[in-house]
Amino acid sequence: MLTKTKQNKPLFDKFAAITERHEMAKLVGQSPIGVPFDKILSPTRALFQDREIVLVGTNNYLGLTFNEQVRRSMIDSIETLGSATTGSRQANGTYGDHARLEQELKTFFEMQSAIVFTTGYQTNLGAISALAGGGDHILIDADSHACIYDACRLTDAATHRFRHNDPENLEKRLKRLPETGGRLVVVEGMYSMFGDVAPLAEMTEVAHANNAMIFVDEAHSVGCFGNKGRGIAEAQGVLQDVDFISGTFSKSLASFVGF
Ligand SMILES: Cc1ncc(COP(=O)(O)O)c(C=O)c1O
Repeated sequence: MLTKTKQNKPLFDKFAAITERHEMAKLVGQSPIGVPFDKILSPTRALFQDREIVLVGTNNYLGLTFNEQVRRSMIDSIETLGSATTGSRQANGTYGDHARLEQELKTFFEMQSAIVFTTGYQTNLGAISALAGGGDHILIDADSHACIYDACRLTDAATHRFRHNDPENLEKRLKRLPETGGRLVVVEGMYSMFGDVAPLAEMTEVAHANNAMIFVDEAHSVGCFGNKGRGIAEAQGVLQDVDFISGTFSKSLASFVGF
């Protein structure tokens, strides 16, 4: 987005409080938002205002951003395929490598099908809003990531929040629903807000016992949990039981693209 609008327009009134807080934060030093690094030196170090600093706030869990094989294959892709598809998947933007990646993801996660999106955010927006429609019910953990909340806003399905990581509360909410309509429970394997892990076995059992399907966002757990790095569902032995998994290449996997 670009703007030349002066910020004294009524449209900006609602941002006054947050602008004030941001200005106060700046008074104690650097703005905490959008800190520009001068140079990234490695997965863990950067140059910032002539100082070498440690990067403790990234999602680079496996440190793969400077991995030789990862960098080589990205360069090879650009050299053989060009820099962009310049078209949507439906129109003219599906290449053979998209299909191959989907096939590999499907096999790796032992699922029936897989589809990739441009980002993890778009994956949850697209998948959740397509799965649950008018007359259906989505049950989400109260501490869900913004993209799960946004996905719920994109559909006519009714959204119900249950207490964070609380299978009993989920069950209570499911039991209160009318008999009609589909039911989709959405949880994260490892929560982005607090870094805690979902009791997926219990959540899955409660969902299925109450005629709901379960969708697990493994954005922060793929690569780090489970014998093969497939996330919390694998680590807790319920990979074969969950109905949908979403994830992203933008964290442990040092790239972009959601699935
Ligand atoms: C739980 C969760 N889901 C999805 C996403 C979106 O991933 P991406 O960065 O690929 O859009 C994030 C990113 O922060 C996340 O924390």
